Amino acid sequence: MSRQKIAVLGATGSIGQSTLDLISRNPESYEVGLLVANSNAQALADAALAVGAQHVVINDESKFAELKARLDGSGIGAAAGRQAVLDWCREPFDMLVSAMVGAAGLEPTYSAINAGSNVALANKESLVCAGRLVRGAVQKAGTALLPVDSEHNAIFQVFEHDNADQIEKIIVTASGGPFRTASFETMKKAGPAEALRHPNWEMGSRITIDSATMMNKAFEVIESLHLFPVETRQIEVLVHPQSLVHGMVQYSDGSLLAQMGPADMRVPIAHCLAYPKRMPVEGQRLDLATIGQLTFERPDPERFPSMRLVWDVIEQGDGAGTAFNGADEVAVAAFLKEEIGFLDIVGVVEDTLVRLNGQGLLAQPSTLADVLHIDGEARRVAREFIEAL
Ligand SMILES: NC(=O)c1ccc[n+]([C@@H]2O[C@H](COP(=O)([O-])OP(=O)(O)OC[C@H]3O[C@@H](n4cnc5c(N)ncnc54)[C@H](OP(=O)(O)O)[C@@H]3O)[C@@H](O)[C@H]2O)c1
Repeated sequence: MSRQKIAVLGATGSIGQSTLDLISRNPESYEVGLLVANSNAQALADAALAVGAQHVVINDESKFAELKARLDGSGIGAAAGRQAVLDWCREPFDMLVSAMVGAAGLEPTYSAINAGSNVALANKESLVCAGRLVRGAVQKAGTALLPVDSEHNAIFQVFEHDNADQIEKIIVTASGGPFRTASFETMKKAGPAEALRHPNWEMGSRITIDSATMMNKAFEVIESLHLFPVETRQIEVLVHPQSLVHGMVQYSDGSLLAQMGPADMRVPIAHCLAYPKRMPVEGQRLDLATIGQLTFERPDPERFPSMRLVWDVIEQGDGAGTAFNGADEVAVAAFLKEEIGFLDIVGVVEDTLVRLNGQGLLAQPSTLADVLHIDGEARRVAREFIEAL
């Protein structure tokens, strides 16, 4: 059987590294056609050499000389710059794992879909910012869009598309993050060190902060609407601090189907890579007798206003989703540099949405250029709010 040719965007990140771990354990099934990273030339070169990648692209052109030097004599092709990233995503791969962080992942993902690559999507920002455009591209290209996010992958595993009309609701679970039971006072004083201390998952810094504010869950609600044929009223968020039940689907006969597993992203990534088959993943198994108890609770929209804001954002459409994400990216970066407080993150996002909505800038984007324009405006306005704080 011929090997599947895989591309990994965000190869040096948390999802990228988990993907490469799985690929390197199954060399008879996969070959690596392309690895892409932003600026970490050393990690990119190390990863490329370890898996025998055919090509690598680094976004930051100032790191190209270092990358070339590290790959010298390996025969691995190298390129640099945003245009090279986009050009390489226009090459068809059996599967492209989209795992860059941020809205920067949208254009490459969109290009890959249009080129006919199947996409394993970790970059939730692609759907939050441009869900309708991405879905349209998938439909036109006839490719598969498989969800890597553990919650959506879980729902995908128990979502009976043939019985979609019998589905009452889908349930997206959330760990609740490090401040699940914290007071307003504690959250107000929290700095990056506290907010980055996620109880269950090891992830990149942006998604870890988004988990602490529950913005990540807000993004996942929007993502759900684009991945599954459900209405907004059919989506429920439940806080489940053990992070073992990743998602559920409730049917009209009262059955509630859940997917469970360890808090290890290699499980959903493996599901996407091997789909519709399965592949072995070494590691932890759930020992339910030792775990003993699973608990669930509703999110608190008072302490986590992202859980209140998201429903308005959905009502406003993709333009609001783009601004929701862009403002959050800027606010999280400012929080990590200790320019603003923890509670200011969602404050900046909310103020940005109100300002842009007032200016009529959140209309439904009909092209990628519209999306990028709204994203740019949201970032500019968010920075203004941050400077005024
Ligand atoms: N981590 C998880 O468990 C998890 C779970 C579900 C969904 N996700 C989603 O998966 C995506 C990646 O998350 P992560 O936690 O893996 O992030 P991460 O550890 O911070 O890694 C981000 C990756 O993106 C690359 N990158 C960033 N900007 C880029 C650009 N402009 N061009 C090219 N490459 C760029 C980085 O390269 P450098 O190393 O060179 O900076 C790095 O490889 C996010 O959308 C996140 O929401 C993550």
